[in-house]
Amino acid sequence: MAYTIDLTGQVALVTGSRRGLGKAIAMALAHAGADIVINDIAPGREEAEATAAEMRDLGRRAIALCGDVSNPEDATQLIEQAWTEMGKIDILVNNAGITRDNLLIRMSDDEWQSVININLSGSFYCTRAAAKRMMKARYGRIINIASVIGLMGNAGQANYAASKAGIIGLTKANAKELASRGITVNAIAPGFIVSAMTDKLPDDVKAKYIEGIPLGRLGTAEDVANAVVFYASELAAYTTGHVLNVDGGMVM
Ligand SMILES: NC(=O)c1ccc[n+]([C@@H]2O[C@H](COP(=O)([O-])OP(=O)(O)OC[C@H]3O[C@@H](n4cnc5c(N)ncnc54)[C@H](O)[C@@H]3O)[C@@H](O)[C@H]2O)c1
Repeated sequence: MAYTIDLTGQVALVTGSRRGLGKAIAMALAHAGADIVINDIAPGREEAEATAAEMRDLGRRAIALCGDVSNPEDATQLIEQAWTEMGKIDILVNNAGITRDNLLIRMSDDEWQSVININLSGSFYCTRAAAKRMMKARYGRIINIASVIGLMGNAGQANYAASKAGIIGLTKANAKELASRGITVNAIAPGFIVSAMTDKLPDDVKAKYIEGIPLGRLGTAEDVANAVVFYASELAAYTTGHVLNVDGGMVM
């Protein structure tokens, strides 16, 4: 048996994918053969269009659909429009996410709610809309981007940790509910990944984090994208409700 991953003919929608991890995930899925739907918020439309054009340069069908996943109407419209324009969605990657860090006693209602709304509710709204279609198709791969912070917590990130722990619970509940329809639901818990989010950290803070990483480096967006391609592939056909840490051994 030859071990190849070929997603030719499959359609993948990645939320929050004009840049960062989402873009790397979309790019990896496109390299594996999948056609791609890029999503991001409307102010990022130009960048989202440019990212979709990069996928088309690889010879894939690709479109960019703007919409705010934390708005239930937008999320439903996103899934429906993607399904109509691309014919189906085989792979949904719930990647859109934000941080609004603050110490617990200073955290505003808005800081709490916006992170929960985008990271957790956004994943729920997109999954609910996609699952309706995927159940009829009797196939689907839903991949949720959580975080090690959802497993181990972090001072100053009560909102983010709760949203990412919530995504892990959502993953397991949905995996149980959708398994009989041929749909797998898995999560990835990235550790510290080189990105706009981690670029903001001062060098001494980064060095301190690296001390706690057995593999001795920050992760790359490609490290995370590789795990997504695995979950999307036939190689992961018997894996559901699982959380894969891509963190250099930080959490074990
Ligand atoms: N960077 C890391 O170290 C790291 C670690 C663990 C988990 N993650 C997770 O990976 C995901 C991507 O993170 P990133 O570092 O690439 O961040 P990023 O800010 O570069 O990208 C996130 C994207 O999501 C989009 N987005 C935000 N709100 C949205 C909404 N309501 N609807 C649609 N799109 C929206 C943003 O515009 C942006 O393009 C997030 O879920 C994040 O929590 C990142």
